[in-house]
Amino acid sequence: MGNTASLLHKALEGAAAAGAEAEYIDLYPLNYKGCISCFYCKRKDKKHGTCIVKDDLSPILERVKEADAVIFGSPIYFMNLTAGMQAFLERLFFSLYIYSREIPSVLGKKIPSAFLYTMNATEEQAEQFHLRESLAAYEAAGATALGVEPYRFYDYNTLQFHDYSQYESSIFSEQDKRDYRASHQLETTQKAYELGQKLIQDAQQV
Ligand SMILES: Cc1cc2nc3c(=O)[nH]c(=O)nc-3n(C[C@H](O)[C@H](O)[C@H](O)COP(=O)(O)O)c2cc1C
Repeated sequence: MGNTASLLHKALEGAAAAGAEAEYIDLYPLNYKGCISCFYCKRKDKKHGTCIVKDDLSPILERVKEADAVIFGSPIYFMNLTAGMQAFLERLFFSLYIYSREIPSVLGKKIPSAFLYTMNATEEQAEQFHLRESLAAYEAAGATALGVEPYRFYDYNTLQFHDYSQYESSIFSEQDKRDYRASHQLETTQKAYELGQKLIQDAQQV
């Protein structure tokens, strides 16, 4: 299992321990595209908050809107969310956000959320490349669409391969990475579990 998936499963364990029915949805096998700028979701004569594009993402968008809490997990690709996660969030957030001064979101409820990121970069490199700033626009859109400021969770210095000797990877020190994982893995896993719990507690209060 990948870095992101395994932390998400930990968070789901925490959520389940807090009483939630927790579901993991993998976007990778789905066929879908991002927002096509048709503005159907903003038409005055249509049901607001509905993305009219029909593909594998359509039922997922409905499931997310029904949820009490959600975690958006993504590896960092080119110092941002993956293209797949960006496409998903374009469809989800943009359809809930209708350009109305009076109604910031048509969701009709609040959904506590978190963005969970995993990456090769160390914390210092992430800072140097202004990662938090790169991610801010999606997080802000999430805060507006879902009505609550999201939590942010970062896992740095992940391992990409089980066996580094089989891949071109001379820009990394496998030993440094393994040392980092050995000293941080437990704490990171525990924090992911607590994130799941915290979201369910928040969901009971909104
Ligand atoms: C196409 C691609 C681009 C990547 N770009 C970055 C990057 O810009 N910064 C970074 O820290 N890691 C980058 N990575 C590494 C992944 O973010 C990292 O290995 C992550 O933990 C993988 O998560 P996963 O195991 O869930 O797939 C990239 C990986 C891929 C495949």
